[in-house]
Amino acid sequence: KIYSGIEKQKGLCHMYKLIASEGMAKRGDFTTCHGTVKTPVFMNVATVAAIKGALSAEDLENVKCQVALSNTYHLHVRPGDELIKKLGGLHKFMSWERPLLTDSGGFQVFSLASLRKIKEEGVYFASHIDGRKIFMGPEESMCIQSNLGSTIAMAFDECVPYPSTKEYMQNSVDRTTRWLLRCIKKMDELNLHENTINKNQMLFGINQGGTFDDIRIEHAKIISELDLPGYSIGGLAVGETHEQMYSVLEAVVPYLPKNKPTYLMGVGTPENILESVERGIDFFDCVLPARNGRHANVYTNFGKLNLLNKKYMLDDTPIDEGCLCPTCRRHTKAYIRHLFKAKEMLAMRLCVTHNLFFFNTMMEEIREAIEAGMFKEYKKDKLEGFKRCDM
Ligand code: GUN
Ligand code: ZN
Repeated sequence: KIYSGIEKQKGLCHMYKLIASEGMAKRGDFTTCHGTVKTPVFMNVATVAAIKGALSAEDLENVKCQVALSNTYHLHVRPGDELIKKLGGLHKFMSWERPLLTDSGGFQVFSLASLRKIKEEGVYFASHIDGRKIFMGPEESMCIQSNLGSTIAMAFDECVPYPSTKEYMQNSVDRTTRWLLRCIKKMDELNLHENTINKNQMLFGINQGGTFDDIRIEHAKIISELDLPGYSIGGLAVGETHEQMYSVLEAVVPYLPKNKPTYLMGVGTPENILESVERGIDFFDCVLPARNGRHANVYTNFGKLNLLNKKYMLDDTPIDEGCLCPTCRRHTKAYIRHLFKAKEMLAMRLCVTHNLFFFNTMMEEIREAIEAGMFKEYKKDKLEGFKRCDM
């Protein structure tokens, strides 16, 4: 066993308790050193330790965010993870006490950085900020995430573009497995350092394999053996169809441990989330609610609306009559539309607030539905509602 005594000590600091299930859908309580996360959960993306759309940590609490997600690569480039460590770690730096997950850089390096060269030791690339040459491998990623002191660190992986040949995929997945072993070793060492920010930091493994079910399953079996506290599914929502993505989940989730959380990285729309919960996913994250909010696109139970539409000019009702978010409690569509036209930052802030509240509320409803054994009905009603969209 690669995880030995250290992992057992940490046993108390992360525990996944299955509260209820319906088919493959799981309702879990995941206890961490920063509090318990009720799953299924949508993590709210704070890439550079801020939610885009000018939301503060306090705002995040007010939209019922359970877990915030930041990025290793971005924070390493600016302001630097060593600076954040000197300031007491990422929780203290951004004044966020609840769980924080950091992505490893394995995805951002592949999607943002230029002049990339992948070698066995890691990835050589140029920073998207100033072109500075950077090297990141499994050990570097673990050191950075350790300096940040997040609750959950992600393994350093390669997110392979779609489509790729089977040969490229197999070689990449094999390397990702070797990188995972190096991540585990490094994280165990770092957690023992006396001045470490979070000695209970846990590491999630990442399953890769694109749309090749056999590669996915083989990889899932190997990483499940490592007894990590959680497992994610990466390399999806990168250009394959939704049906292909669901089919991968159906193939691979049965090979991941049932008594651990599963995390589908970078997904997705409310529809994608409902379909994936049904296939056994606990954790989600996506930039969509914040990105859409910044473009005046808001989610409702009857579809997405664009508040720039002329028909809202004199609309004195909230985005969603039934919504209890800070935006809908006070403001009308006409007002928010005006703010967009006047290019006021408040416009984005109000829409992003509503959208994150919408996602987090949907997750709350999903959890209640699974507990009540009503998830199938809930999902059907919700999906029908979204189609009433009058955009
Ligand atoms: N975010 C979305 N997809 C991925 C992935 O495959 N790997 C990592 N590290 N992050 C992701
Ligand atoms: Zn609202």
